[in-house]
Amino acid sequence: IKTSILSSSILVVGCSDKRSDKFIYPDYADRSFIVPPLIEPTIVNGKRIFKFSINHNTIEIFKGKLTCVLGYGDSILGPTIRVDNMDNVGFEITNYLSVNTTVHFHGLHLPAKEDGGPYQIIPPNKTWKPSWRINQLASTQWYHPHLEGYTGEQVYKGMAGFFLIDDETSRLLDIPKTYGVDDLPVVIQDRRFDEKAQLLYLNKGDFDKSGGMKGYTILVNGKPVPILNVPAQVIRLRILNGSNARIYNLGFEGDIQFYQIASDGGFLEKPVSLTRVLLGPAERVEILLDLNNSKNTILRFKSFSAEYYDKQKLNGHQFGGPFKVGGTGRLSDSVDTLDKINFDVMSIYVNKSTSTNVVRKIPNKLTKIVRLKESDAIKTRNFGLTVMSGFKINRRVFTSMFKVINGIVLEGEHMLHLINGVQMDMNVINEVVKKGDVEIWRITNGAHTTHPFHIHDIQFQILDREQGDGSDPTLPNENERGWKDTVLLMPEETVRVVAKFDHYADTQYPYMYHCHILEHEDAGMMGQFLVVEPEDFDTVMTDIDNNK
Ligand code: C2O
Ligand code: CU
Ligand code: CU
Repeated sequence: IKTSILSSSILVVGCSDKRSDKFIYPDYADRSFIVPPLIEPTIVNGKRIFKFSINHNTIEIFKGKLTCVLGYGDSILGPTIRVDNMDNVGFEITNYLSVNTTVHFHGLHLPAKEDGGPYQIIPPNKTWKPSWRINQLASTQWYHPHLEGYTGEQVYKGMAGFFLIDDETSRLLDIPKTYGVDDLPVVIQDRRFDEKAQLLYLNKGDFDKSGGMKGYTILVNGKPVPILNVPAQVIRLRILNGSNARIYNLGFEGDIQFYQIASDGGFLEKPVSLTRVLLGPAERVEILLDLNNSKNTILRFKSFSAEYYDKQKLNGHQFGGPFKVGGTGRLSDSVDTLDKINFDVMSIYVNKSTSTNVVRKIPNKLTKIVRLKESDAIKTRNFGLTVMSGFKINRRVFTSMFKVINGIVLEGEHMLHLINGVQMDMNVINEVVKKGDVEIWRITNGAHTTHPFHIHDIQFQILDREQGDGSDPTLPNENERGWKDTVLLMPEETVRVVAKFDHYADTQYPYMYHCHILEHEDAGMMGQFLVVEPEDFDTVMTDIDNNK
């Protein structure tokens, strides 16, 4: 395990904006798997304070070429924050970029003021100091920028890190827990590079029908298709899809079985045996792999094609409706070439076992999940995700939003990404929830592309999925019966989720909900919600109506 840091500087060197669409470098500088370093907090009056800074850095991804990236620290990505439930935590995050940014704690249950969404801007050379008390289950969370209109670009250029939470349950379970040895963070991201090995983010004038920024080089923890060395025992991978737009259908060559033990918000009740798992942007899964009998072998961890996923009906997920077995359905509309082929994500080289004191078995049980019931909900709120052409442009314009007719790109008319018919507007509060209420959020995808829908602050449970072809709603698959903060919606699918809203959020710092395809989010597929004391609800609603 080593980090490859060549230099770090505040100035971006050699960055160009020349673009070439499918340039793939043959020569990777180094393919050893990197474990992001754990950040050591300083402890002041019982509060654990994590300090880091946001920088321009250069790293060598391709042999002999320096790539400009952004990162929390001195390389790409950022250090791993690790905390215990009920810890008092604080952060001191300094922005050494020349532009504004924010640091959003994705999946964290935290006061709206500390959420790091579009309101908590860190200007250049300023330090942001959020703090709160961790109050949630053991889980794999993450942090990333959330600057209104620029989230996609900043994440794409390298800003993201893991945020791991432990609790009583995770400590008592007999599962791998040695960070970087048998408990490994794995963030998967796809990127494009130009001739000078610089990251290529699409700008106005490019056209990409895939609906979001996708690349052709797969980076895992910032390394191209790396090689991970592990002991021959049970290992745990905490997988995060940190991509802007790409959905992965993950599995191993030879259909090796693995066991999903956690979803976004924590452990499942018991391990779910799978050979594939579908992961949309921002979603996390923790999996266990039993490698006791795999000494001296190489496993290929891959993403499998959409066609494959159609025919197999997927072990991890099933989507009927537009994706009937045997047909490619509309999936092809929402994916580009890489989604239609199998491609490598990383290789895992299994060594000999390193010690006798390691995990040898997959546990039978993990935890007990407190079920939120449909009948606990006070109300159902509807969210319709749509994409349509139009002219309202007070937002950044992205490639995918150009309309092409007979090969001619129509400037001026763009694809608008909407929730309930409107684009995100920081001056408009879209929803007001009463603090303490349990609500059902019913999200309908009325678009031809897939959308991962994410809600800030809370973890929800999926009640059911409905395919939009008239068939009855179905329960989520077993690996989706745990806590989630992001749910993938296929075209025409409706998903009902249930959650309890128990943090206050006022107009100064609202929470967000949005599509986690970052170009869709930046294009306006986002909304804001408040959580108010029940007795204030009427006043707040009147204020909002008066402001319209
Ligand atoms: Cu990971 Cu609002 O985002
Ligand atoms: Cu979030
Ligand atoms: Cu979307």
